[in-house]
Amino acid sequence: MDNIQNRVKALHDLLNQYGYEYYVQDNPSVPDSEYDKLLRELIDIEEAHPELKSPDSPTVRVGGEVQSSFEKVNHDTPMLSLGNAFNEQELRRFDQRIREQVGKVEYMCELKIDGLAVSLKYVDGRFVQGLTRGDGTTGEDITENLRTIHAIPLKINEPLSFEVRGEAYMPRSSFIRLNEEKEKNDEQPFANPRNAAAGSLRQLDPKLAAKRKLSVFLYSVNDFTDFKATTQSGALDELDRLGFKTNHERARVDDIEGVLAYIEKWTNQREQLPYDIDGIVIKVNDIEQQDEMGYTQKSPRWAIAYKFPAEEVVTTLQDIELSIGRTGVVTPTAILNPVRVAGTTVSRASLHNEDLIRERDIRIGDSVVVKKAGDIIPEVVRSITERRPEGTLPYSMPTHCPSCGHELVRIEGEVALRCINPKCQAQLVEGLIHFVSRQAMNIDGLGTKIIQQLYHHEVIKDVADIFYLTEDDLLPLERMGSKKVDNLLKAIDDAKANSLEHLLFGLGIRHLGVKASQVLAEKYETMDRLLEVTEEELVSIHDIGDKLAQSVVTYLENEDIKALIEKLKNKDVNMVYNGIKTSDIEGHPDFKDKTIVLTGKLQQLTRKEASAWLELQGAKVTSSVTKNTDLVIAGEDAGSKLTKAEKFGTEIWTEEQFVAKQNEISS
Ligand code: IVH
Repeated sequence: MDNIQNRVKALHDLLNQYGYEYYVQDNPSVPDSEYDKLLRELIDIEEAHPELKSPDSPTVRVGGEVQSSFEKVNHDTPMLSLGNAFNEQELRRFDQRIREQVGKVEYMCELKIDGLAVSLKYVDGRFVQGLTRGDGTTGEDITENLRTIHAIPLKINEPLSFEVRGEAYMPRSSFIRLNEEKEKNDEQPFANPRNAAAGSLRQLDPKLAAKRKLSVFLYSVNDFTDFKATTQSGALDELDRLGFKTNHERARVDDIEGVLAYIEKWTNQREQLPYDIDGIVIKVNDIEQQDEMGYTQKSPRWAIAYKFPAEEVVTTLQDIELSIGRTGVVTPTAILNPVRVAGTTVSRASLHNEDLIRERDIRIGDSVVVKKAGDIIPEVVRSITERRPEGTLPYSMPTHCPSCGHELVRIEGEVALRCINPKCQAQLVEGLIHFVSRQAMNIDGLGTKIIQQLYHHEVIKDVADIFYLTEDDLLPLERMGSKKVDNLLKAIDDAKANSLEHLLFGLGIRHLGVKASQVLAEKYETMDRLLEVTEEELVSIHDIGDKLAQSVVTYLENEDIKALIEKLKNKDVNMVYNGIKTSDIEGHPDFKDKTIVLTGKLQQLTRKEASAWLELQGAKVTSSVTKNTDLVIAGEDAGSKLTKAEKFGTEIWTEEQFVAKQNEISS
């Protein structure tokens, strides 16, 4: 037995050494077949003598037992994110702020690996736990999947206890191979290596994760007390020495000019890397200086992520499609020749409104430049007029609603064209979709497709009809099984208990947003009291303006609406405020209890919508920037508020970042 134990030890050492050379140093000293042979020998021994199999045996790389779920675990210290810079000016401001605060600094420039952040815990030199970032406070325990990544040492040579953080990623070669395989099996390919890496680490079967050929670059040590380093570069060298994989394209530079040169180099060379990067991370090198600068709520003040400009591609505009929203607004959408941009195939992009099409003189048939705002929302940037085919005409919006044929009007002071026919089918369907949406009645499973079918089969004509649906109405629909029907009917039944503000918002009363619905429900408590309220009373409430007051009263006075409310009551739809006070709103941790200022021109949503959404997340939206401001969201042409925020070192987001965060939270 002693002999076998010795052999097991020798096999561990050899396999760890070969694995390290291959996966960390990228410089194998033996052919793959030699590694495989030794691994096979170890597997055989462990099968014959299970007591000799240890948790850090190289055989665990093939993946262990299937798990039922991932446990949620709190991080010892929050996993923060980084502030962003999109251009040289923003980087220079970052540098200036730092020099004002701590004097001259040296910077570490690192590639910003496009994967997902992971935290790895070592106790007495053994890898014991690996977590995802999660919401920054709580992550998921994906230890078993991480053990399959060869670049992560299961054991290091010194009995140290510490946490390292880094980025798990899928090399481009693994990504291409994986997608080829998926396509061969008629499966949906992954959009990009980052999604593929995230999907792989969320596999409950570690054997599947093991097949995905992921890797990792470690970039930080959570607590420096056990580490001999006093600088970021020293910490990375120390990680190298301990056998971790770090990224060797890093560079220490003397000043911001060095940073800019590094950025330029990698902007030109990023395509040659065997993995994706989405920017450059710049960190103050000296740990003491880092500590002096400290952190905002969300990110270190001593580091910033420079993001590469959004990828722009050229394609053809095949058509402009018009859709009618719930309030009758006509929105033009660009129908594009499908093209890959920033990792996904794009075939549609919003054109927002008629003015935008005219200003940019975008014509059907044009070659157009497309990008993704905030790397998420596809957008037509401009037409390439030099390539314009002959015979195209400037685009003009129709004069009549494409759905109901009613004349379209342009309301004074608004850019949008509107169909004002209250019986317009397209609007009614959109109204139904709005009624079941998350912030309204939140009926899960009642998607656009189902609503369209139910409306066109005349099963539902108004929102109340939803509560009259039966199994017989739903079963004949496309792709509807009895299980799905049961779930849907249960979701509809559950929605009846919603607090009054959900119903109010869901009714789609003009100008009545989420916040004002909350205010009205909290104040009047029942629908019956609201039905009696006068315009004068409403305008006296803080937050309720003339237009809204008039709109609410006119709406509720309407006999058809009164009948609709009765119809809802007959099905026991709750008409009472259920008492959750604004102060009890759960909100999202990124926004809850934060003081936030909106400034500059926002493009994708109005200030009002942005504030309402932020308040719903538990934030306080104020108008001036002070030392207590936690976050400034800056649109175009932001002026003195932005300057002030920079002076205070307040965290600043662009509108794109904000919209991306909204999407992330609501997805
Ligand atoms: S340092 C306090 N260095 O970029 C956060 N992050 O928001 C310190 N990332 O998801 C992060 N490469 O996982 C750092 N060389 C690098 C990085 C890097 C990629 C990711 C990180 C996080 C995001 C920053």
